Amino acid sequence: KLSIRNLDVSSKEVLMRVDFNVPLKDGEITDDTRIQAAVPSIKHLLAGGAKLVLCSHMGRPDGKADPKYSLAPTAKRLGEILGQNVELAPDCVGTEAAELRKKLQPGQVLVLENTRYHAEEEANDADFAKSLAGEAEIFVNDAFGTAHRAHASTEGVTKFIPRAAMGFLIESELEYLDAKLENPERPFLVIMGGSKVSDKIQVISALMEKADSFLIGGAMANTFRKAQGYKTGDSRVENDKLDLALEILATAKEKGVDFLLPADTRITQEFKDGATTQVTGIYGQGGETPDGWEGIDIGDVSIQQFEAEIAKAKTIIWNGPVGVFEIENFAHGTKAIAEAMAKSDAVTIVGGGDSVTAVNKFGLDDKMTFISTGGGASLELLEGKTLPGVAALSEA
Ligand code: 3PG
Repeated sequence: KLSIRNLDVSSKEVLMRVDFNVPLKDGEITDDTRIQAAVPSIKHLLAGGAKLVLCSHMGRPDGKADPKYSLAPTAKRLGEILGQNVELAPDCVGTEAAELRKKLQPGQVLVLENTRYHAEEEANDADFAKSLAGEAEIFVNDAFGTAHRAHASTEGVTKFIPRAAMGFLIESELEYLDAKLENPERPFLVIMGGSKVSDKIQVISALMEKADSFLIGGAMANTFRKAQGYKTGDSRVENDKLDLALEILATAKEKGVDFLLPADTRITQEFKDGATTQVTGIYGQGGETPDGWEGIDIGDVSIQQFEAEIAKAKTIIWNGPVGVFEIENFAHGTKAIAEAMAKSDAVTIVGGGDSVTAVNKFGLDDKMTFISTGGGASLELLEGKTLPGVAALSEA
């Protein structure tokens, strides 16, 4: 695909789709990672003399203008980061936005208000995409987090702008979540957590073709243990996925992939801050979760085993926490994994969503080789799906 590296943008209007869908609390940005992640592309285009127009969605305002979902705090933060004035157009289409776009000088940047203030955005409406495209001569997509959506601003707009290129962020996301995993340095270890087997089944199947070993944690581990016949007490279990869990275990065996379930589980009787916990014995040696108790983290023996696996690996991808890390007493396993990855000299990739939140929380984000900015998008990429926002770009 065409890359931002191969564009002459001098004095041209460039429309760039970014993912500025950042978490807000009381109108304040609580994590500006996604804004920072777009800065290399923004600076590159401005230095090249582009008249830069940025568009993004924010939250899910249901096709109506709603100040709760305004990009105003984001435009302000971007201005601070760039050290230059960043104006916000009150709407992403319409006469006012068009006039502001026309007035732009090379090296200036304008942010358009939330594209999802219009229902036509998610409907990928062609007329809306055409208005959004405006007079832009070049489109750059750097919104990795939204690349799995075929919306007007990610896909539709490419039909109305002669050239569409990927930005630096999408380029590196594709490198780490796709290209590097095609031919990984081995052993290649996958760490999977999260609550549901059903959310991760496609990722597990896709990575089973490439990985040497898996470590499984989170509530989905309960489903595997129950499928094997162990008692899981009051743990979260997907009872309709027990056969699926057994199939996954059988496939792993058939392919010679090491598929490690937690050897023991940290359990509690009260799901809350400050709760006391215990660790089950080892599965197969009497370890089980009694009624009235639920699994909330991997146990101490599991932690040791997982650390040893991480230390051996040369490529590691981690998606999904292995316990309820939001509660301190339930965070031991997730923290141990983050720390072991931070210490490792392997290529360490954190595949988006809650595991990224965990790594940030433990302050270990700068110790990882790559951290994805995508939630759903990173999962779909790992599943081997084509992302519509990437597929629509021009050929190199
Ligand atoms: C995300 O946060 O995953 C992206 O910004 C996409 O948001 P969406 O799930 O509302 O489409």
